[in-house]
Amino acid sequence: MTTSPQTATAVACANIAFIKYWGQSDSGLTLPTNGSISMNLDGCLTETTVRCDPELERDQVWLALHGGEEMPASGRPYERVMAQINRLRALAGSSMPVEIRSRNNFPSDAGIASSAAAFAALTRAAVAAFQLEVNERELSRLTRLSGSGSACRSIPSGFVEWYNDGTDQGSYAEQIAPSSHWALVDIVAVVNTQAKHVSSTHGHDLAPTSAYFPARLSEVPARLIEVRRAISACDLERLGLAAEADAMSMHVVAMTAKPPTMYWQPATLSVIQAVQRWRAQDNLQSYWTIDAGPNVHVICEAKDAPEVEARLCELSAVQWTIANGPGHEARLVG
Ligand code: PMV
Repeated sequence: MTTSPQTATAVACANIAFIKYWGQSDSGLTLPTNGSISMNLDGCLTETTVRCDPELERDQVWLALHGGEEMPASGRPYERVMAQINRLRALAGSSMPVEIRSRNNFPSDAGIASSAAAFAALTRAAVAAFQLEVNERELSRLTRLSGSGSACRSIPSGFVEWYNDGTDQGSYAEQIAPSSHWALVDIVAVVNTQAKHVSSTHGHDLAPTSAYFPARLSEVPARLIEVRRAISACDLERLGLAAEADAMSMHVVAMTAKPPTMYWQPATLSVIQAVQRWRAQDNLQSYWTIDAGPNVHVICEAKDAPEVEARLCELSAVQWTIANGPGHEARLVG
C-alpha cells in the first residue's frame, strides 16, 4: 500500500458491438445474459487522469464532455465514478482522496458507448494510480464491475469478445483479433446528440419483460459463432448480416419491453434505408448497427469508407459523421 501521491493518465476507445450485450443475469455483478463481440473505435476516445494525494481535502471529479469546458461532476455521474474508485481504493487498501479529470472527444449518452470509453479509461488509470498489479483479464473483469459492462470490451485492443459463463471470474473480455487484422471502418452517422431518454442500465433491467427476449437469447449463440468466423475470415457480408440481425433483435426486445423503449428516430430509419438501398442498387457494401440511442453505426471496409462517408454526409438526416478504424487497448499515456 502506497501513501505517497500518485498520478496516472489513460486513454480508452469506445467500442461498437456486432453482437450486443442486452440484459443481465446479475445486475450487482454486471453479469450479462449473453456473450458479445465488438470492435474498438479509434476515433472516439476518453482520456482520464487519476491523482491520489493525501493532501487533497476531498474526492473530486471533473468532466469535459465532447471537447467542452471542464465542469465538476455531481449526481449520478459522480456517484458512478466514485463507486468504481471506492471499489479499487478498497482493493488497494488505500484511503487517499482522489482527483479525477476526464475528457472525451465525442457526444455522450447518445449510443456511441461513451460510458464504455469512460469506465475503461477510469479503471486503467485508477489501477495504475493505486499501484494495483493486475493482468489484462483482471483489469477487464474489474472494469465490468463499474456497471458499464460493455466497458470491459474497451480494455483489450482490436476485435474483442466478452465471455459469459455466468460467473464473476469467467466474465471478462479478450482480444479475438488484433486491430491490424482487418481494415474495417465504423462510420458513426450522428443524427441526434441529445442524451437518450432511457439509459442502457435501465434497458438491461427491462429486457426480460419482453416476450421476445427468450427468442433473442436462443439465437445469440449461433450468431456469436457466425461473427467470430466472419472476423477471422475478414468476410464483411457475413459480419454485416449477422450484426444487422443482432441489432434488430436487440431493438425488438427494447421496443416490446414493458414499458417499451424506442431508441430510433425518423432519421435513424432513413439512414438504415439508405444503407440498404446503396447495397441493393449499387453493390456498395456497408451494413448498419445501432446501440441504445438514435445514431447509426455504418460498417464497411476501408476501401469503401470515403464513398460511404460522402453519401452519409449528403443525407439530410445526418448532422455529421465520425469515421473509426479498429482501436487500441486502454493504455497508459502518463
Ligand atoms: O455497458 P452498458 O450498460 O452501457 O450497455 C451497453 C449496451 C449496448 O451498447 C446497447 C450494447 C453493447 O453491447 O455495447
